Amino acid sequence: MTTEPMSDALVIFGATGDLAYKQIFPALQAMVRRGALTVPVIGVARTRRSDDDLRERARDSVEHHGGFDREAFDKLARLLRYVSINYSDPQSFADLNRALDGAKRPLHYLAIPPSAFTTAVAGLTRVRGTDNARVALEKPFGRDRASARALDKCLHDVFPESAIFRIDHYLGKEPVQNLLYFRFANSFPEPLWNRELVSSVEITMAEDFGVAGRGSFYEETGAIRDVLQNHLLVVTSILAMDGPVGQNVEAVRDEKARVLKAIAPLDRSRVVRGQYRGYRDERGVAPGSMVETFAAVELQIDTWRWAGVPFFMRTGKLMPCTATEVMIQLKKPPREIFGEHISCPDYFRFRLEPEIVIALGIRVRRPGAATSDSMVGEDKELLASEDPKLGTLPYERLLGDAMRGDQSLFARQDAIEEQWRIVDPVLGDAVPLHYYDKGTWGPAEAERVSPWGCSNPLAPARRKSS
Ligand code: BG6
Repeated sequence: MTTEPMSDALVIFGATGDLAYKQIFPALQAMVRRGALTVPVIGVARTRRSDDDLRERARDSVEHHGGFDREAFDKLARLLRYVSINYSDPQSFADLNRALDGAKRPLHYLAIPPSAFTTAVAGLTRVRGTDNARVALEKPFGRDRASARALDKCLHDVFPESAIFRIDHYLGKEPVQNLLYFRFANSFPEPLWNRELVSSVEITMAEDFGVAGRGSFYEETGAIRDVLQNHLLVVTSILAMDGPVGQNVEAVRDEKARVLKAIAPLDRSRVVRGQYRGYRDERGVAPGSMVETFAAVELQIDTWRWAGVPFFMRTGKLMPCTATEVMIQLKKPPREIFGEHISCPDYFRFRLEPEIVIALGIRVRRPGAATSDSMVGEDKELLASEDPKLGTLPYERLLGDAMRGDQSLFARQDAIEEQWRIVDPVLGDAVPLHYYDKGTWGPAEAERVSPWGCSNPLAPARRKSS
């Protein structure tokens, strides 16, 4: 628990953007409902709008994405103000300062494309809007390792480390926190969690929608910078880390950074990039764009625990379904004494989205066999599930933590730099691009970056194909 002073205003840069619409306003309404948000919230964006326009947008957002709660929303609406900003005009930042009305410890949350971070910080600094303030910014932090360092330097010229909150919202997700909890609140996983019993690890993040109006943002990122460098490597680090030493805020962050250091830079021959057909027709996308909307990679972790165990990460837009899943595939028993060929051995399966499930895949004897030599088995899952609606929204948790000054669930610069070091060799067009049809599991070439040679990585399909 932190004893830092609470922020007395929240400034949201990018208040009219997609992220604010889909995730931030619902999170703010949830915070108000819990009594965790009572300070002014100032939405900032380039377009000319009024306070009421912003309230209207917020209302539309919670109606579509947050479950409208009249009482909580009305309170939120009373906290909302709008300031339109021209990033190159100091007067705009002076207007923002005025709207802050003497707030002493505002949190400036930059929900804007990474290319605009430094301009926003410079504008704030010129009007002393950064004095005593906190800043929260969204991944990706930079475009590669060098620019991540430059960005960090620019932030540190103005803010102390304790005032910088680097948001990777996967860290705020309940099922992601549960991965860490499951591993270290139980004693039985640890003896299995290594190269002796694990044959491969797969992390799949599939989405059944495309870039949906975010074409120009996506052109700056692509799948590797957008989710693989951050969300998927964060999940990898939680799955692969050693147990934390001690209980302070840094103990878990230390172990995550340490395991990332043991991951070799991606080998181009173990990376497949794809682009869905029709991407180039999206608004904001260049006609000849070579940006990937799909990536499948294999990486190795060079530690005693994981040497020789392949980790596969796969993500794509316009896949057949939306699902994020981790599969820890266990090795086959050393002998098949029942005369069966077991093609799908035991596994741990963690479904992170849209359901929240932890499952242990096992073989059991099929009942009803009449003779003692008929030991025929079938696949079953022992399963624990949670209702995803019961948890806290990731941004509800993260914005609340940042306003309280609690760093636990934010990315640390050393880990971010390691994540860039891992992906740097495959950024841009270093790896050929293949094309895939909407609603498929990506280009056929991706099958070679999979333990199954099977394009659909989710568990039920694997069973059928095995
Ligand atoms: C964001 C990416 O960080 O994460 C999006 O920019 C992606 O492209 C989103 O769709 C997925 O987040 P979630 O919480 O829906 O899994």
